[in-house]
Amino acid sequence: MSAGHAAAAHVISAEVGETHFTVHIGDGQIAHLGSLWAERAAGEQALVVFDGNVAGHAEAAAASLREAGLRTVMAEVPPGERSKSLSELDRLCREAARAGIRRADAVVAVGGGVVGDLAGFLAASYLRGVRLVHVPTTLLAMVDSSIGGKTGVDLPEGKNLVGAIWQPSLVVMDTATLDTLPGRELSCGFAEVVKYGLLDSPELFDRVEGWPAPLPGPAGPLLDLIRDCVRHKLDVVSQDERETGLRASLNLGHTVGHGIEAAAGYERYHHGEAISLGLLAALRIAERIRGLDPAWRDRTRTVLERHGLPTRLDPEVRTPDILAAMGRDKKADSTALNMVLVDEPGVVLLRQDPPADMVISAIEELRA
Ligand SMILES: NC(=O)c1ccc[n+]([C@@H]2O[C@H](COP(=O)([O-])OP(=O)(O)OC[C@H]3O[C@@H](n4cnc5c(N)ncnc54)[C@H](O)[C@@H]3O)[C@@H](O)[C@H]2O)c1
Ligand SMILES: [Zn+2]
Repeated sequence: MSAGHAAAAHVISAEVGETHFTVHIGDGQIAHLGSLWAERAAGEQALVVFDGNVAGHAEAAAASLREAGLRTVMAEVPPGERSKSLSELDRLCREAARAGIRRADAVVAVGGGVVGDLAGFLAASYLRGVRLVHVPTTLLAMVDSSIGGKTGVDLPEGKNLVGAIWQPSLVVMDTATLDTLPGRELSCGFAEVVKYGLLDSPELFDRVEGWPAPLPGPAGPLLDLIRDCVRHKLDVVSQDERETGLRASLNLGHTVGHGIEAAAGYERYHHGEAISLGLLAALRIAERIRGLDPAWRDRTRTVLERHGLPTRLDPEVRTPDILAAMGRDKKADSTALNMVLVDEPGVVLLRQDPPADMVISAIEELRA
């Protein structure tokens, strides 16, 4: 963030399932990580998991922990989704064993959603559970993956197939880390922010709609924006930790979005880019099924475009492949396709199995 007067940090007190924890959001918060941990917990050691692209942020986190009297052990993983694997988990478990990590000690995840999901699952499974601290360094990890407790790794057969729900003991978001995040990654996180605007309220949507380029945008308002996305997700997750109902609303834009991401082979579109397209498709379907005012889709498209997100589908990504990836090619009764629809920002409903022709035409209209 720009130099000058730092806005005061936000502190959110969260309660999910049996776990109480606090989420701290501020510019420069990593410097306080050690004291925040020491105030809350009795562990003596921290295993700091990070990838090479955030080595500087991880070192700052470790320095703060050492200042508060903890011993730190650094565990680097290669950047990228491939690190969300059982073999990396195995390696980290053995590092934890060699370091003598105990149940009161902390696994500290410094990085994006990849590191958070991997280190989170390490914390959930090592010794049947040790303390977890999230220090998210991508916009996506701040507003989404560090909140809610989903942790896990991928298999060659599919993403996120092995994992656990494991809530952190502390979450520290330092918006200064976003200064080193590439623009494309900032845009991807912003797609989820737009999703929250639609899910939460006309008021949040207005703020998201007016968000100035380039990302991440003005420091003080950014803290408020992240806080409000985090609050929305915490509110939903605290009511439905294991996704038996309400939590599924967070998948707005993800039914078609995941289909596009997979059909394009995970390379052409990054997750947030596919969600950008998926949001527009979901709004189109909501227009047809629920009579949503088309102005919301126009406004959403404008803000997505302003922040470098795709709003037109690459013609090379074929509709049958998207439907196949959505599971829509199988027999009708074996596909409980869930779509999240909105009547207006803040008024959300789940709809099982929207008519196939509506889904297909919503995808086709993304090419127009
Ligand atoms: N647990 C959940 O609820 C949840 C929710 C959404 C997504 N996810 C998972 O999150 C992952 C995606 O997360 P992501 O988008 O953060 O990706 P990521 O962790 O791969 O980070 C994106 C890239 O940015 C780099 N990076 C991270 N922070 C940086 C910084 N401050 N400066 C410079 N480079 C930095 C990373 O090394 C990586 O190359 C996926 O595996 C997805 O399944 C989990
Ligand atoms: Zn997403």
